[in-house]
Amino acid sequence: MTRVSEIMQTMEYGPSTEDASAARDWLAGHGSFGHFIDGAFTAPADTFPTRDPATSEVLAHVSQGSDSDIAAAVAAARAAQPGWAALSGTARARYLYALARHVQKRERLLSVLETLDNGKPIRESRDIDVPLVARHLYHHAGWAELRDSRFPGHAPLGVCGQIIPWNFPLLMLAWKIAPALAAGNTVVLKPAEYTPLTALAFAQICQQIGLPAGVVNIVTGDGTTGAALVASDVDKIAFTGSTEVGRGIARALAGTGRRLTLELGGKSPFVVMEDADLDAAVEGVVDSIWFNQGQVCCAGSRILVAEAVAPLFEDLLRARMDRLRVGAPLDKSTDIGAIVDPVQKARILSICKAAVDHGAELIGGQPQDGCFIAPGYLRNIAPANPGMTEEIFGPIATLSTFRTADEAVELANATRYGLAGSVWSESATVATDLAARIKAGVIWINAANLFDAAAPFGGMRESGYGREGGAAGMLDYLAGPAVTPAPDRPGAVATTNPSDATAIDRTAKLYIGGAQKRPDGGAMYPVRGGLAPLGSRKDIRNAVEAASKAGKWAAMGGHGRAQVLYFIAENLAARATEFASRTSKAEVEAAIDRAFHYAAWADKFDGTTVQAKPGHLVTVIPEPSGIIGIACPDAQPLAGFLSLVLPAIAMGNTVVVIPSESDPLPVIDLAQVFDTSDLPGGVVNIVTGPQSDLSLHLAAHDEVTAFWHAGAGTDLTAIDQAASGNLKPVWPIPPRDWTGSEAQGETFLRHATRQKTIWLLYGALPAGSGGAAY
Ligand code: NAI
Repeated sequence: MTRVSEIMQTMEYGPSTEDASAARDWLAGHGSFGHFIDGAFTAPADTFPTRDPATSEVLAHVSQGSDSDIAAAVAAARAAQPGWAALSGTARARYLYALARHVQKRERLLSVLETLDNGKPIRESRDIDVPLVARHLYHHAGWAELRDSRFPGHAPLGVCGQIIPWNFPLLMLAWKIAPALAAGNTVVLKPAEYTPLTALAFAQICQQIGLPAGVVNIVTGDGTTGAALVASDVDKIAFTGSTEVGRGIARALAGTGRRLTLELGGKSPFVVMEDADLDAAVEGVVDSIWFNQGQVCCAGSRILVAEAVAPLFEDLLRARMDRLRVGAPLDKSTDIGAIVDPVQKARILSICKAAVDHGAELIGGQPQDGCFIAPGYLRNIAPANPGMTEEIFGPIATLSTFRTADEAVELANATRYGLAGSVWSESATVATDLAARIKAGVIWINAANLFDAAAPFGGMRESGYGREGGAAGMLDYLAGPAVTPAPDRPGAVATTNPSDATAIDRTAKLYIGGAQKRPDGGAMYPVRGGLAPLGSRKDIRNAVEAASKAGKWAAMGGHGRAQVLYFIAENLAARATEFASRTSKAEVEAAIDRAFHYAAWADKFDGTTVQAKPGHLVTVIPEPSGIIGIACPDAQPLAGFLSLVLPAIAMGNTVVVIPSESDPLPVIDLAQVFDTSDLPGGVVNIVTGPQSDLSLHLAAHDEVTAFWHAGAGTDLTAIDQAASGNLKPVWPIPPRDWTGSEAQGETFLRHATRQKTIWLLYGALPAGSGGAAY
């Protein structure tokens, strides 16, 4: 017989299986499911099985949603939306509160169902997923209440189509449904084909709390059902899933002007500095990479460790890895459960094989019977190895080393993704320096994979755009105040002084890198008041290169940038009569106002600290987007140009701008104003010429991080498609009177920035909790 003293040595313990009888009774009571449309379940049709990946047992049959199912769901959502939006904030809050309470009451059923359908350990679904679902619903009950006071003038978008993946089925549902409903939208949600069950259980909860019919609709099915939702008459698509499908959705929506948020893949760095608490960092790896079988978009799957401590770190890592328990997901002592489906298991193994074929060494990571893979990591791996570049989405990390902090940052950013990052150092200076320099939407300092409804989550680069959580997440489900359409060519150009026109004709040049340049081909084209340089694709490339070299502008800080903007206002004022003679007095006055306005904002568009979790300081910082491409309106060339350029540069971006096609000369003359105002070369670059052509080159350029389209006559579809290559957001800016007050404000600043959410441990930390916060 085993003695207690032996057990104390081995720490072996027997199975402790969660009781699944309630979930099984619930499943047996249904057998097959239809869709949830207009407050009722449809009859099951065209069904397919959903299985427990741990045992391959069929759990239930669900319906494959057709085009007509999607159309019915969207129609129900459309019909319900005005009534839902007309409710008071408090009334909507009460419904969200009721959903939260019912989720809490059915906690056990939901977590067991999630574990059965997804294969994740019950510890995760019970202790992380379902409590966070309730947290999201509570938090957004609050936003429903506060919407009108916190976001004055904003309105719901209408009907939102939401497509979610299988790795956090119920949590992703809550992330999407809660803000949409709080804002006054109605939704059609499509769960992933592998994991539809908790969404259907949630649909029942909607019925039980008496949510008005049509406010939440759930249509099950595979990617074709998702594609039908994308093609339907919804006002927004919110998608979480693979980068490839996300890019396809961006292309499918090109030119529609519909709102889109994308939360896509990642290959996030996990940086361990020489002075890190290595035991805590190893626990962080467990949380970050092996948690949920590595099927986490923000997993810190690229471990980068300081060379000096790499051998010790690896020893600790290996010892911890060997003790992780892979096995039955319903067992409360299981650390690593089942991979969601054999298809995913095969995908993970094929990337690992390719990595090994390219010279990497795989430690652990062996496949086991069924949908199980032991935790592992790839070492001796070159930067170009597929294991380093591809999202493995399984319990396999990569391990590489660096010598200096600069090298760590370089390696961390050597990816097309930008979702998250985790940094480990006992030095606040080192850790926050890395947090600032890693290009990602979320950074955890001495922690990993922490989430909260108040903390915006989302990526940059090919990890997508848009935020979920907090005020930023709410804004992604709201439309800003409508603008008054522009009158026809307001403030028409005054007759040009012929002597000026001649002077401009002869000297008009592009403005690139702070210097006036002849266009690449040397050609000019006729414009209002003379001739302008005919910019080409090569000029756009040169301008983007110049913009990328002017990165110090961001580092100048808001105070430094404000001074330059005030100086621009002063120099414009000094030449007001001259500019007014080429445009109008109203335009010049508006331009000077803009410079004052955005100089004021330059050091006041602040970040915020949010109340996410006790013991954590979560700071949300607006960072410059990077290089913004801007196509200006044709009318009001000066006011239009500066209304767009000034907010962008006030926030620390550099810009490449295509001014009014027919009337660019007043803007070309601005180059002298910029030079005399100490604007560093390369911050503003101006390429004149045919907007339709130049906009496409600019929107397609990989180094351009966002594109603002206020240009006339350029096809938005083509621009959206060009921009989808590296998934840069395109902001179609509705026409307006660019001399009026609607041409300025915080909306422009929001589009000029993207939020970085930084998690820091703060205050009392329970002894020994390390990075494992849950
Ligand atoms: P996926 O991107 O194909 O599926 C995600 C969701 O999109 C599912 O609901 C799916 O039915 C739907 N979908 C698929 N094709 C669609 C289309 N053409 N139009 C509209 N909706 C469509 O992801 P999949 O195939 O399940 O996983 C493949 C890889 O994607 C994973 O190995 C992983 O690398 C990545 N992934 C990333 C996730 C994340 O959280 N960022 C989540 C799931 C997968």
